[in-house]
Amino acid sequence: ADSLGALAAPINLRIGNAVNMDKLNVDATYTSLVANQYSTVTPENVMKWEVIEPTQGQLNFAPADQLVSFAQQHNQLVRGHTLLWHNQLPGWLTTGVSNGTISNAQLRDILKRHIFDEAGHFRGKIWQWDVANEVFANAWDPNPLPNGMNGDNFWVSHLGVGIVADAFRWAHQADPHALLFYNDFNIGGEDGTNAKADAVYAWVKSVRAQGVPIQGVGNQGHLDTQYGFSGAKLQDDLARYASLGVKVAITEADVRTFVETTDSLQTPTDSLAQFAQPFEFDQMLKACLAVSSCLSFTIWGVDDADSWVPGVFTGEGYATLHDTNLQPKTAYTTLQQDL
Ligand code: XIL
Repeated sequence: ADSLGALAAPINLRIGNAVNMDKLNVDATYTSLVANQYSTVTPENVMKWEVIEPTQGQLNFAPADQLVSFAQQHNQLVRGHTLLWHNQLPGWLTTGVSNGTISNAQLRDILKRHIFDEAGHFRGKIWQWDVANEVFANAWDPNPLPNGMNGDNFWVSHLGVGIVADAFRWAHQADPHALLFYNDFNIGGEDGTNAKADAVYAWVKSVRAQGVPIQGVGNQGHLDTQYGFSGAKLQDDLARYASLGVKVAITEADVRTFVETTDSLQTPTDSLAQFAQPFEFDQMLKACLAVSSCLSFTIWGVDDADSWVPGVFTGEGYATLHDTNLQPKTAYTTLQQDL
């Protein structure tokens, strides 16, 4: 049967995955899945600042360049991820800020330089850039600001809320043709009201009105079968951006559940999760399919053995489309049938 990428091509939708550069061109089965199934790729880690500039002033673009050329050889478009984020920052940066050797004024210059270095290096080669990642507050964050950003966020707390719009201005100067995205989780599909989704929408609307170059919103789509999720609500949350002239994408889809941790296949502990997991993937893809401004649907992790979930969420797994032996799961065939 046809690959996900090939099935989505006639409707102008790209299907992608996050690529682990420790496995690409190393593990043959993994590499052929990436090459054959997907029409867009995101570097899972190698475009993050800690990898790009491990020592101040010494830029390491080699692993990301390798992914960009792999993508070009396989007619895949690249989502750049990510320029402004509070995680996976280089040690010299976080240490310098915490011991006071980097002032806030210097921090601003360092961020600007980073965005020009990285977006400039890949200029013309990136389809969508996740310029800023996860700066808005969740319901559980103790210090939300009036505009909904997280007052405890590393960048916002040191440089103020305006730094996020500035990051988009700098990225646009460095690479005028890339589509610039704001990317976050818990901003679509949660049942009932979701203050975070509404805050992101209001911020995008207001900065667009000020001429800030932001062209897209990425909805990460990290779901868990134990929490409420509504595909109809996700569709609404995605669709409203069209009236702002803003594109959307599902950028990091996975659906985790509790698993038998001693079982190498990550069998769900609740047998109903065998149905809930593919169902939620199906609902996410259908929401994107129903919204013409939804440009791409990217899954976060090629297979369950490679997924970030077991390492971060204790006792959870089974989150991707392929099992730990890289065989397609029900979630895979479900998405195939949707396309
Ligand atoms: C994760 C990667 O998958 C892991 O390999 C890494 O150790 C930590 O980061 N939201 C994001 C992604 O935007 O960059 C994160 O990726 C997952 C959550």
